[in-house]
Amino acid sequence: MLIGMVSAKGSPGVTTAALAVASQWPRRVLLLDADPFGGDIRAGLGGGEWPSAAGLADAVVDLRSTGMDEALRRRVHRPAPHAPPVLAGLGCVGQAPSVAWTQLATALGRMTGADTIADCGRYAVLDGVIPLLRACEVVVLVVGSGLRAVRTASRVAPLLREELGVEAGDIRVSVLVVGPDEPYSSSEIAAACELPLLGELPRDRRSADVWSEGVQPARAFDRSPLQRGAHRIAAKLVGAGTGGNGAA
Ligand SMILES: Nc1ncnc2c1ncn2[C@@H]1O[C@H](COP(=O)(O)OP(=O)(O)OP(=O)(O)O)[C@@H](O)[C@H]1O
Ligand SMILES: [Mg+2]
Repeated sequence: MLIGMVSAKGSPGVTTAALAVASQWPRRVLLLDADPFGGDIRAGLGGGEWPSAAGLADAVVDLRSTGMDEALRRRVHRPAPHAPPVLAGLGCVGQAPSVAWTQLATALGRMTGADTIADCGRYAVLDGVIPLLRACEVVVLVVGSGLRAVRTASRVAPLLREELGVEAGDIRVSVLVVGPDEPYSSSEIAAACELPLLGELPRDRRSADVWSEGVQPARAFDRSPLQRGAHRIAAKLVGAGTGGNGAA
């Protein structure tokens, strides 16, 4: 199962949400940092200490001469015991169009016994990652709850549905609200986007810092609001991918 997470504008917390959800995934999972504006995970969660040859760029080169399993074995890195395995992202803006996303997605989709959550960064028509989004079984639009965020998300939502060829209401393109009620509620946001509501993640600065800044988790990290929210989202996504109704 291949899941794409994407934002419309600003930095609502796609990377944080993708890592938190992957850390709560009930099956084997790979976090693919596919942000076309350059991957953040190496510097954030990884604290800048990452094996230099571990990442997407080297995996893409490997795939010319070897299979996906071997490429992933060489290039995936698990930066901490609480973190999921990560295929770190591209170094800078402009590299994304040179990646054969469709082939990569097909190969990831064929992996047996493991799912992939792809952090696709901010949606942009010409960023080069669209073929990866099109190949996803489920796409999640991550959005904050302020007016500007909701306004932009409501404009991007129909474009995403069009990319995936799904009707309004289809759970394959859904919305995840980070920090609801500031001021709009999750259901208001879903209605504005005409997307099913996958769910919400609470604002939880301390736990978010674990994923975005590489801060060491506190002892109760797993029971924190963010991690518990991520656990619920993971269960819904697994349900959505297996044909269940994952909508809230
Ligand atoms: N649920 C949350 N609660 C509190 N802070 C959060 C939450 N999610 C993310 N943040 C914070 O917001 C900032 C941006 O998060 P993140 O890097 O995940 O966003 P993003 O959407 O991936 O941004 P970009 O488009 O720059 O990649 C970080 O400082 C992160 O700690
Ligand atoms: Mg990000």
